Amino acid sequence: KQKVIIDADPGIDDSLALLVALRSPKLDVIGISIVEGNVPTIIGVQNALKVLREANRLDIPVFAGAEVPLKHEYVSAQDTHGEDGLGQSQLERVTDVKPSQRDAQAGYAKLLSENEDVWFLALGPLTNVAIALQQQPDIWQQVSRLIVMGGADQTNGNTSPVAEYNFWVDPDAADYVFQNSPLNIELVPLDVTRKLEFTPNMLQMMQYLDAEKAKFVAQIMPFYFDFHWQQEHVLGAVINDPLVIIYALHPELVRSVNKYVTVVTDGIALGQSIVDRADFWKKQPNATILQAVDAKSAMAHIISGLLASNVA
Ligand code: BDR
Ligand code: CA
Repeated sequence: KQKVIIDADPGIDDSLALLVALRSPKLDVIGISIVEGNVPTIIGVQNALKVLREANRLDIPVFAGAEVPLKHEYVSAQDTHGEDGLGQSQLERVTDVKPSQRDAQAGYAKLLSENEDVWFLALGPLTNVAIALQQQPDIWQQVSRLIVMGGADQTNGNTSPVAEYNFWVDPDAADYVFQNSPLNIELVPLDVTRKLEFTPNMLQMMQYLDAEKAKFVAQIMPFYFDFHWQQEHVLGAVINDPLVIIYALHPELVRSVNKYVTVVTDGIALGQSIVDRADFWKKQPNATILQAVDAKSAMAHIISGLLASNVA
């Protein structure tokens, strides 16, 4: 099994991604770290625990990470994900497990001293990753892939005309990671994630296939459907983060380019990802940027991944 660490800000789509990863027979989730983002870190920790309980994997450590971005003021996305981050689902709190006492940085140090060839999947703002690169550059030798959901390449943003939420929340961290990562970054931007719409029909299909497993998804999705209907008048919800898991396992579903990427850290274009497509700056490419995805197949993988069985 491939070992993975997932850094997330759960969040409805983060939770779906976590569930797909936890239920994948090909992945071994060795730790989850939480960053400020869709919800404050303390709420994100509780949500990760709720997902772990759902997957029957409360043995996996959850580490609390940064609570605020490196320099900018923190702005959550509770309008999109609900005050509780899980679509006001009223799921019972997990009280029988304490989140690990270690913080995310200590968690990374421990996990990466005990494991090698680990994939690191970042589903939220890059604050935790930037701090780890700054403070513990050596541990990254044990990481073999760094896959990041963030940025908008040739499409408009979702938080400003040009910025995607994860990069907009902590643009300094995002840019730091692009400039300092020893690993090439595999970037899963809005251009491709936006193609993944989870519709009420798909939820019904899940309920038809496995009513028991579909329950959790049915509890967290309606808020997301409502939000997308009211904001954009679309019959479904864009789910960004699960594509990171699907792409990690099925790279044949995407087309990508290798380019140099930087992130705007102030001014009107705050958080914008700039891809030097025409090589103006003559820099070595630092990222593989997804350009296109077979969205239908990816969606089918997400649905079957949510219904898969990999109970420990
Ligand atoms: C990203 O922002 C969050 O709202 C989602 O969880 C995703 O990681 C999309 O812009
Ligand atoms: Ca996220």
